[in-house]
Order: sequence, then structure tokens, then C-alpha cells
Amino acid sequence: MNIIASLVKEGFVPFAFGSRANLELLHPAPFGEQLLMLAADDPAQLPFHNFINRLNGLAYGGKDMGMPAWVQIDCGILPSAFIGFAVSAERLPEKLKWSLDIGSYQGLVPISEAISIPTAQPGRWMSYSMSTVIPGRKLGFASKVLSLKAYGCRSCLGVAQFDNFALRIHTRFGPLQIVEPHVPYHTCPTNSFVYGLDLQGGAILDTLERGGRVEDPREPSFLLHANNTEKMQEMALRSRQGSHRYWLLPPGAVRNEGVYNPILEEAL
Ligand SMILES: CC(C)(COP(=O)(O)OP(=O)(O)OC[C@H]1O[C@@H](n2cnc3c(N)ncnc32)[C@H](O)[C@@H]1OP(=O)(O)O)[C@@H](O)C(=O)NCCC(=O)NCCS
Repeated sequence: MNIIASLVKEGFVPFAFGSRANLELLHPAPFGEQLLMLAADDPAQLPFHNFINRLNGLAYGGKDMGMPAWVQIDCGILPSAFIGFAVSAERLPEKLKWSLDIGSYQGLVPISEAISIPTAQPGRWMSYSMSTVIPGRKLGFASKVLSLKAYGCRSCLGVAQFDNFALRIHTRFGPLQIVEPHVPYHTCPTNSFVYGLDLQGGAILDTLERGGRVEDPREPSFLLHANNTEKMQEMALRSRQGSHRYWLLPPGAVRNEGVYNPILEEAL
């Protein structure tokens, strides 16, 4: 089952929303499905700007919690493009229309997005948002797959919390190398970490889009409780000292009287 093609068949429209200069450089039809290119500087796209912001806010905790407008522009539209799926307003459930403040608008409404921006390291992108307001249909996951393919990304970085169930989605891309096991300077300092992901020249994206799985036969060394900050600090110290390397193995965020993550510890 090709996940992008099946979503398109169901009427979800894949889009890219960014500056014209960036849109021209994206893969126009990742996995054979045409991206609807929406130039963010076109005044006609103002409603789309607002919907992206409300979608992001709603998914992350509340309509007004979307990224600040300047972040959306400076750190999204100008360096890259939001990529996701949209549906026509009339297809949305009433509650969602209300939450997204659709009003009398009748065009396409984004219901999922993912975005990464390039780092100074060639081929490496920083993935900082993946969200959907229609959860459980793989729309957030598919947006991430689609976006990384459209950018031509080979390797990414991300920041997550050890108790976020999105880890189940991030680990579908393979084991996450824990680059920084503890990030005290973060809005969420107790259990944020930085991960790196090697997409094996993009082959992983093709496997996932075909409905395949990324297998890893390695066994975890221990299960890390999502709030065990002390252990995260110890892992961070060992990583900095260069004595150990850590991997977060699939499936990530296992619920068992608390949330645990399977960790592989490698002595270097
Ligand atoms: C993360 C998110 C994009 C996933 O959306 P999605 O594409 O609809 O997800 P999928 O349908 O592919 O899969 C959902 C997975 O998450 C798991 N999941 C999600 N919420 C969960 C919860 N509260 N408890 C347990 N599992 C949960 C599901 O069990 C499933 O995992 P599985 O297939 O291993 O069982 C969506 O939940 C979201 O917008 N979350 C808020 C924003 C966010 O946290 N983004 C990630 C930042 S790092």
C-alpha cells in the first residue's frame, strides 16, 4: 500500500507552502504525486497562513498556541516550505471548521503539516514540526515522509521529549541516534533530547511510502523512564566525554505504568 497515493485517492491534496524561490527547488511530484505549490507571498494565500498557524497551534495544545507569525515566516516560509495535506473546507467536520475558524471560506484547508529547514551541514535538515488535526490516519507521518522526499533530505535532526507519543512515528524512520540526551536549555527542560536520523540516501523514505518497515535487530540495553532526568544527564555526560553512544530503538514511547523508551547503549 503506497501511503501517499492512498491519501490522495481519499481526497487529501498534498501541498507545499513557502517562498516562490524555495517552491521552485522542491521535487514537484514526490512519489509520483503532484504537490500543489502555494506561494506564501501571494496575498490571496493569507487565509492559508492563518490555517497553518491554527492547525499547528491546535495540534500542539490550543488554537492560540501556534508558532509566532514571525517564526512561521522567518524560520519556515523563507528558508523552506511547509508540506502537508489539505482538504476542501466543506469536507471538514463542523467542530473542526469551528476550531480552525473557517467562517465562510470555501477553499482548501491544510489539516496536516511537516517542516524541516536546512542546517549548515550539507544534506542535513532540522525537522521542527509535524502535526495534524485529524489524528490516527497517518496524515502527520505521511506529511513528514512527503516533506523529506520533496526537500531531497538525506539526514535530519530533531528535538523531542521522551514522553511524546510522536516518538512512535519518528522511530518508524529507524533507530534515532541520541545526539544530546538532555537539553536543559529548552522550553521543556526535564526530558527533551536531540536526535539524528540517517535516511540512507533517501531509501528509507521509499520503503516507508511503500508501506514497508525499517527493521533493526538490535536489542535495547535498558528502558529509560520518560521522566528520569538524572539518567538523561548521565547519558549526556558520557556522550560528551565520548565514552558512549546511545540509540532510541523502535517502537519508542512504550506505555507501561508510565512511558519508557528502549535505549541501546554502545561503549566506544
Ligand atoms: C504526532 C502526530 C503528528 C501523529 O499523527 P498521525 O500521523 O495521525 O499518526 P499515525 O496515525 O501515523 O500514528 C499514531 C501513532 O501514535 C500513537 N499515539 C498517538 N497518541 C497517542 C497516545 N496519546 N497514547 C498512545 N499512543 C499514541 C498511536 O498509537 C500510533 O502509534 P502505533 O502505530 O505505533 O500504535 C499527531 O498526533 C500530532 O499532531 N500530535 C501533536 C503534535 C506533536 O506532538 N508533534 C510531534 C512533535 S515531536
